[in-house]
Amino acid sequence: MCGIVGYVGPKQAADFLLEGMSKLEYRGYDSAGIAVFDGQTIAVQKSVGRLNNLEMKLGSSLPKGNMGIGHTRWATHGRPSDLNSHPHTDCSGDFVIVHNGIIENYLHLKEDLIAKGHVFASETDTEVVAHLLEECYQGDFEAAVKKVLTIIEGSYALVFMSKHDPGKIICSKQDNPLVIGLGEGENFIASDIPAIINYTRKTYILSDGEMAIVTPESVWVMNRQGVPVSKKVFEVNWDAEAAEKGGYEHFMIKEIYEQPKAIRETMSGRLAKDDSSIIFDELKWTKDDLANINKIFIIACGTAYHAGIVGKYYLEQLARVPVEVDIASEFRYRSPLVDENTLTLVISQSGETSDTLAALKEAKRLGARTIAITNVVGSSIAREADQVIYTWAGPEIAVASTKAYTTQLVSVCMFAIYIAGMRGTLPVETIKTLIRGLRELPAQAHELLEDVEPIKTFAQQYGFAEDVFFIGRSLDYAVALEGALKLKEISYIHAEAYAAGELKHGTLALIVDGVPVIALATQHDVYEKTLSNIKEVKARDAVVIGIGLKGDKQLVKYVDHTIYIPATEKYLTPILTVIPLQLLAYYAAVTRGCDVDKPRNLAKSVTVE
Ligand code: F6R
Repeated sequence: MCGIVGYVGPKQAADFLLEGMSKLEYRGYDSAGIAVFDGQTIAVQKSVGRLNNLEMKLGSSLPKGNMGIGHTRWATHGRPSDLNSHPHTDCSGDFVIVHNGIIENYLHLKEDLIAKGHVFASETDTEVVAHLLEECYQGDFEAAVKKVLTIIEGSYALVFMSKHDPGKIICSKQDNPLVIGLGEGENFIASDIPAIINYTRKTYILSDGEMAIVTPESVWVMNRQGVPVSKKVFEVNWDAEAAEKGGYEHFMIKEIYEQPKAIRETMSGRLAKDDSSIIFDELKWTKDDLANINKIFIIACGTAYHAGIVGKYYLEQLARVPVEVDIASEFRYRSPLVDENTLTLVISQSGETSDTLAALKEAKRLGARTIAITNVVGSSIAREADQVIYTWAGPEIAVASTKAYTTQLVSVCMFAIYIAGMRGTLPVETIKTLIRGLRELPAQAHELLEDVEPIKTFAQQYGFAEDVFFIGRSLDYAVALEGALKLKEISYIHAEAYAAGELKHGTLALIVDGVPVIALATQHDVYEKTLSNIKEVKARDAVVIGIGLKGDKQLVKYVDHTIYIPATEKYLTPILTVIPLQLLAYYAAVTRGCDVDKPRNLAKSVTVE
């Protein structure tokens, strides 16, 4: 996720660009940059860090000009740095672009362009687009952009400016948002409405595959073949704060709804076209490097730790390597048995959690090879680990982690398939089935999010319970742990997760009339046993909400309410099962009037031990 803006009109562009970017900082704050065109020269200014750094660099001497583009970056390809900041230019400096998304075929394009003599200044995927534009330009800016759009693959919202065409900005989108604000004698471009709401409430919301030519007096929208599209004007009636949350009441629910996209982006470019393998271009280990690995430690905190518990199932069952999962704050102090044949995988959304960072350093000191799964490019954990797999979830603002968790699961699953491929522990057909399953996840997550009314109703019905229990076996147990944490942290309801078979060893004493029990029953191999455990709690008059796979006809007979998730591969169920649990926690917190995005006593990034 990044934030992009553009302006063309009679005023000084830089004023709008900086103000618009300040409203989009929630989309990324690794760096910021602007390019302003005065009809003669394009002045590009950028700076690593928050927008404030750029503003300080510019001081009172803002670049002059009536058109310009700007960008706040959430790094994906290339660490946060001045050079990797947008806008990017071609070799001549005649073309300037800003981009939100991922150009999947950039490596291949970059090689071709280098062979043709292009010199690259950054490590980003985006820069290829500027060079490609230069390569395709034959005197017609619009035609060159159209050509570029037929060559690049991936997701994007792109805004283009050319020295050859003063007074005209071109933009296009695929899978990432782009809005055009319609003014009087001026027009605005932005990733999201908050950037333009102080200037106009009349907008065009671009659809995938559309391209717009924006001048001060006109906005022409067409498809990529150049066929005009007639757009309806969308009148924004939100207030500025609601606009920042995309019209949602809280960041948490917005982020829950962003999961289909976050999952898709995290897989983007990493699933082989023929489904036979996982591609991690960023990992530099060879088969030989991994041949001697005889143990994997997964280390993390909180929600990321829960992702690690799911990871244990993945890595042990798919790649056949023994795995220990450790809470980061415990790992260092228990004299762990780590040596050079140990692989340590740390998981951290922020990449800054002190406990996790300290555990990573300890594992390195003991000689382990290390890898991090994190959401923040250039974070301390990303810098410390030998190798990094980034989740491409975009910034997570709500304290309660949602899209970071599901993208961590997707990443660790891809990593397990990758290791399995290297170690030859899975038949190609099984890998193909899993990868096909992964491909379906974004649509299945979307389907789950389409009908949340029953979950809202349960939350309203049971939102004032004092205790809630979550039970499940196998992978369902791992997800139950995360469901209980979500409920505790944002609704302040006491919640516990138990391996369903463990209840009868003590906890069953707490199950009395009317206690809500959320029973996860998505795992075929332990299904009958889970049903027996559900009967145990029903016999004590618990109210049971069962979560099962679509098509399951039995579950409904044993529980009070059912929620179904789309049927998928057994290993992929956690990525879907957690979504109703996130929603349940969210609506319970709303019912109780809690501060959903900033629960008491908690912080987003925990940098103390
Ligand atoms: C819970 C939550 C926390 C974090 C934990 C680790 O919703 O967000 O439990 O998962 O503090 O944070 P990261 O992943 O940033 O290391």
